[in-house]
Amino acid sequence: MSPRAELLEIVSQLKNLLISYPQIGLEVPGLSRQSVTDTNPGDTSPGDLISLRALIGDCKRCKLSEGRTKLVFGEGAAGARLVFVGEGPGAEEDAAGRPFVGEAGKLLTKIIESGMGLKREDVYICNVVKCRPPKNRDPEGEEIQTCLPFLRQQLGIIKPEVICTLGRIAAQSLLGREFKITQERGNWFSYLGTPLMATFHPAYILRNPSEERQLKRAVWEDVQKIMRKLGLKVRKNE
Ligand code: URA
Repeated sequence: MSPRAELLEIVSQLKNLLISYPQIGLEVPGLSRQSVTDTNPGDTSPGDLISLRALIGDCKRCKLSEGRTKLVFGEGAAGARLVFVGEGPGAEEDAAGRPFVGEAGKLLTKIIESGMGLKREDVYICNVVKCRPPKNRDPEGEEIQTCLPFLRQQLGIIKPEVICTLGRIAAQSLLGREFKITQERGNWFSYLGTPLMATFHPAYILRNPSEERQLKRAVWEDVQKIMRKLGLKVRKNE
């Protein structure tokens, strides 16, 4: 990516970030309709994941709350060097309140543990939307915009060295633009200065058994790039 394109992407993401702050009750001095002195001095950004989870509470901010069993906040190491971002919980995740525990989750865990040689608990795993969309449909724009500030906050707290987005929706949401997953995956992007690798969603691999080999190979290539960026030893013949 050229320095100019990178700068434009950062400016666009920063704009989206600042616009989204009031939705979670934060005031951005100079962007708020209220003056700085009008704001509640107690309005501060949650400094840790537990406070952020508490702030989300029994969320009813969008209609996805109507159909959910459990809100799926995310899990893993608060100081993770690598964060995986999926789209939204599926049926198993909705029932368990944990991200990526169904079939796609098993594949993701295999990538992390057998492929990367890490433990699942060493990374952080979360989603763009925290509640299951009905019948696993794509989350709608309004649902994404309502929930995205929480993902941004998670990333701001964890401060990972690398973000790996799984599938089109996650890449699109964090980059703030349309994203063509088959054309653009495997490249480095920047999320507010943090290197972001976009790869296929494991569920996409499972839904396309006839292309499984090529898709797995592509994901493995992308994962190897992440490992090199993190200084992890890449084992041959995976
Ligand atoms: N698919 C996702 O995008 N996220 C999950 O947590 C599970 C499946």
